[in-house]
Amino acid sequence: MIKFNPKNVTIEAIGEEHGLDLERKFDEYAPKIEKILTELNQRKDKPGAWLQWMNLGYSEETVWYVKEYAAMVRGRFENVLVLGIGGSALGGIAVTEALLKPYWNLLTAEQRDNLPRIFFLDNIDPDQMSAMFEMLDMKKTLVNVITKSGSTAETMSQFMIIKDKMQAILGDDYRKHIVATTDKEAGILRQISNEEGYKTFVVPDDVGGRFSVFSAVGLVPFALVGIDIDEIIEGIKNIDLALKNTDIRKNIAAQNALIHYLLEREKGKNISVMMPYSSRLRYVSDWYVQLWAESLGKEEDRDGNKVNIGPTPVKAVGATDQHSQIQLYNEGKNDKIINFIRVEEFDKELEIPKIFEYTGIGYLGGKTVNSLINAEADATAVALCDYNRPNLTITLPKLNAYHLAQLLYMLEVQTAIAGELYNINTFNQPGVEQAKNYTYALMGRAGYEDSAAILREKMGESTVSA
Ligand code: PA5
Repeated sequence: MIKFNPKNVTIEAIGEEHGLDLERKFDEYAPKIEKILTELNQRKDKPGAWLQWMNLGYSEETVWYVKEYAAMVRGRFENVLVLGIGGSALGGIAVTEALLKPYWNLLTAEQRDNLPRIFFLDNIDPDQMSAMFEMLDMKKTLVNVITKSGSTAETMSQFMIIKDKMQAILGDDYRKHIVATTDKEAGILRQISNEEGYKTFVVPDDVGGRFSVFSAVGLVPFALVGIDIDEIIEGIKNIDLALKNTDIRKNIAAQNALIHYLLEREKGKNISVMMPYSSRLRYVSDWYVQLWAESLGKEEDRDGNKVNIGPTPVKAVGATDQHSQIQLYNEGKNDKIINFIRVEEFDKELEIPKIFEYTGIGYLGGKTVNSLINAEADATAVALCDYNRPNLTITLPKLNAYHLAQLLYMLEVQTAIAGELYNINTFNQPGVEQAKNYTYALMGRAGYEDSAAILREKMGESTVSA
């Protein structure tokens, strides 16, 4: 199991002004946490509750179909290109970066065990897209287009360009180069897929984008590049019971949600920094930023009060950001909680040779980089305590599919519990709609004429382009 150590958020570690009396707070909030967890578990299967992600550890049927498809196309493609944005991309990026050999796409086919390279397009930068489309040989590329709504402008514009290119190059065969992951019946991509006969997978009902990494959204690309999705599912299953435990002392997701909530509400720690000490976990920080920001940043609480709530998530990576952000974290405004992620046992052990005897670097000779990165994580945590800055550590015994899945799932449960503590709707995102509507208006989508009129007034007639 992954481990959680919150000792450095306590009064004993960082003093009364910034620390928490954790034992007392656990006692005080035990009934509330029990109620939250009981209700979440009861609500889980209610349509419209958006809690179906809590069942993804038990979706044997999906896992079976995904594995069957991956086995069927194995050896046929040199590249997998994933089109998607936000929750349809960030989990995939985080997991593949963490679990594939580093520099995967630069390795030879033999070094990759003849598994495909994988690319994610999660933006609409014309230069990047053009370069990607020029670089990839379409005859050897499988495109996985992922959009739950089936109409996201960024993803569908990417898809329209690539479909056109593929059709020109491959003729009718292009269909075999597309696999779509979308809603089971709604949305334009579903309609196109049905009409054109693409292979499809389903984003289950009541699973929002940022909670979808363990649905077909993530499992399809993972299986295509040979990641063991059985291990992923096993990892979730084995931690799920512990995270359903209504006793806060036995539930690390509940503990971490409460710690974040209390530090924000009572001690002004408005910023949650995710800082793995592992380059391979770098994109877990990006995934966490979306999960925490889009879920908890809300204008209204459940009772309709205007609250404008939400801690700000920030991404960092150790040891790299010790040389960029740590100065601020130690000496700047004391408004942050630092989440360290540690890896106990790296895949490789790398020794630093004893080749210099200069006092300033000679001590490194004969040590391992493994001990250096872990010493730096320890040292940073202690230094933060010296400055009375709350920090906590989640440890993965090893960086593998099993433990990574546990980490991500724990962070999802933690987010859901935090949303309940804040009394907000964790699973909607009304704040992203306004800019979307304006974009539709700017691009001339039918039905958005009213937004276009508002835009004209706000921006000036000449700047409205469509
Ligand atoms: O978490 C979310 O809900 C969003 O980030 C969505 O995943 C994102 O907007 C993409 O949506 P869709 O999958 O419908 O294209």
